[in-house]
Amino acid sequence: MLEEIKIKALILAGGYGTRLRPLSCTRPKLLFPVAGKTMLEWILNIFYREDFDEVILAVNHLADILKKRVGNKIDNININYSLEPEPLGTGGPIKKAEDRLKDVDNFLIANGDILTTLNFKRMLESHTKKEAIATVALHEVSDPSRYGVVELDKEIRIKKFVEKPKEKLTSKWINAGIYLMRADVLKYIPSNRKVSLEKEIFPILSEKEKLYGFKLDGPWYDVGNFDTFRKANYDIIKRGPKQKPLLYKNANIEDRAKLKPPIIIRENVKIGNFSIIGPNSVICQNSQIGNKTVIKDSIIFENVTIGESALIEGTIIGGNVEIGDSVKIGRNCIISDYVNIRDNIKISKGVIVHPYKELENDVKNSGHVL
Ligand code: GTP
Repeated sequence: MLEEIKIKALILAGGYGTRLRPLSCTRPKLLFPVAGKTMLEWILNIFYREDFDEVILAVNHLADILKKRVGNKIDNININYSLEPEPLGTGGPIKKAEDRLKDVDNFLIANGDILTTLNFKRMLESHTKKEAIATVALHEVSDPSRYGVVELDKEIRIKKFVEKPKEKLTSKWINAGIYLMRADVLKYIPSNRKVSLEKEIFPILSEKEKLYGFKLDGPWYDVGNFDTFRKANYDIIKRGPKQKPLLYKNANIEDRAKLKPPIIIRENVKIGNFSIIGPNSVICQNSQIGNKTVIKDSIIFENVTIGESALIEGTIIGGNVEIGDSVKIGRNCIISDYVNIRDNIKISKGVIVHPYKELENDVKNSGHVL
């Protein structure tokens, strides 16, 4: 019976991602790589084995970059875009895509910055059995004060939604940012304005309709700031093989390079002789590292070029960055997309270099380089 139900999904992907600036100035959150896969790829993993007709990306900020990189199909999944002239929040984009969503019984909504595993079939079963108007995926945390918390009854029906609670609550279950909704949710969302699903729509649904929770039991990350982005990367890298590197296709590793696991090396990466790479690092697609360079505890995005005898520790290097020979970068730096760092430059710890910057002088103090 369940097999006959047609499902569509809408991914909320239009936020400014201010907490991930300046990397999010040139890169939509869905294209942030976590352990070598983009957030979009992680989210689409939820849909692969299911009969999703269509995945709609609700976009605004940096929509063109996303469209250009993703196109209209990933594997067997059709990707379409719903472009907002103005950001419509977390609820407005659902109403905007009404014409596309209303012809199915249920649709799935996912925040574009959530990384988790979801047994979709079980969620759909629970949603259908309980005749819920909407089912909210829930994750349990020890400190819910930064999140939207739900109060539940014994049947896991949501009695109340509390955004970032100030007072102590008994519930530790938070809104995990994935929702299954019946099409009649659309009548509760106002048109043509910014709407917050969490603050405006869920409180109404929990009062007037059957709003249920669905408890997730796997790992869950909200990759919305640099602490959680780093944590998601390092946790997943550490879950990989401990004895050998995780190598993808066409990795070109010179004989005398040393790879220290856990480490992920994506497609077409080149690593020169006598370089020591790892542990706790990921090198994304098409990046090239010269001879005698040392990289550890670092997240290197795609298409990065690093010269010889460089030293990079505990740092995030954005896409298309060029780093010269003998460059030294201290811990907790963020080097944004398209930055160019000349030979012999030294960057102290905690430096944040903004996109397209050409660095010709050492940076001795932590802080922003604009
Ligand atoms: P911050 O500015 O750092 O808070 O990030 P954000 O703008 O992404 O906001 P938030 O983390 O609250 O957003 C949660 C999810 O909703 C993310 O996947 C966002 O991309 C998405 N989102 C937020 N605002 C909008 C919007 O106006 N339109 C669309 N389409 N998506 C949005």
